[in-house]
Amino acid sequence: MYDWGLKNRLSRVVKSDGKTVMLAVDHGYFLGPTTGLEDAEKTIKPLLPYADALMPTRGIVRTSVSPISETPIVLRVSGGNSILDEDLSNEGLTVSVEDAVRLNASAVALSIYVGSPNQKETLLNLAKLIDEGHRYSMPVLAVTAVGKNMVRDARYLALSCRIAAELGAHFVKTYYCEGFEKLVKTCPVPLVMAGGKKLPEYEALELTYNAISRGAAGVDMGRNIFQSEAPVAMIQAVRAIVHDNATPKKAYEIYKGFKARLKSKKSKVKGVTASKEQLSRH
Ligand code: R5P
Repeated sequence: MYDWGLKNRLSRVVKSDGKTVMLAVDHGYFLGPTTGLEDAEKTIKPLLPYADALMPTRGIVRTSVSPISETPIVLRVSGGNSILDEDLSNEGLTVSVEDAVRLNASAVALSIYVGSPNQKETLLNLAKLIDEGHRYSMPVLAVTAVGKNMVRDARYLALSCRIAAELGAHFVKTYYCEGFEKLVKTCPVPLVMAGGKKLPEYEALELTYNAISRGAAGVDMGRNIFQSEAPVAMIQAVRAIVHDNATPKKAYEIYKGFKARLKSKKSKVKGVTASKEQLSRH
């Protein structure tokens, strides 16, 4: 039975309908300046009001997120690897739960690499984080990471998700795959879907729909939102699927509608600025 504090923190992230739209912006912890996140503050700010939770590193929280933001933070607390590594699995804990509490995090997130050379270490890191997390009523999100050449099929992902839950993770983030419902059925804690590489908007919405209709508790999506042509429109379309059961078609219409409105708002602002400039020249 979870403590009141832990349940309270978790309920900030996973909303009362049992669903969440998390915005992942933690990519830089091993990818450095990822496309779309070069100026993290600029990217994050307009999206924050539409995210149920934000998943950054502590460096990005302290430099690029306003402390008056009401969006809960799911703090990335593992790292030590980089994209230059042949084997990405060599991760350790990078943040103490005490510092996560100082940042008023609602949960902490760590990657596990099942089947990799560092399987044991990453799983023991998870167990350690859960023990420490319980001391502070801090929920733990286990991220079932995959190495550069590892398969993402239902057999492998179900294995990773179940191991994470068996070790005590409070929720798990994993990839979508054929047979996703098997992952959901065999994992006793909520599963959120990672977005993966940027897809055309309609395909990303289809992916979201497939995961939600097969039992996902939501998404923890990054590139398919912040690398979209219209990120604010895209996150609202994703929300429509996650929270309102919209079909991909309906969500795509929502995306296009918001995109058009945002575009005309921008051109009006440009028009006003241009006419002010013209006036000042005369
Ligand atoms: C990767 O390990 C990071 O945790 C990302 O947050 C995760 O991959 C989700 O972002 P995306 O939707 O861009 O894949």
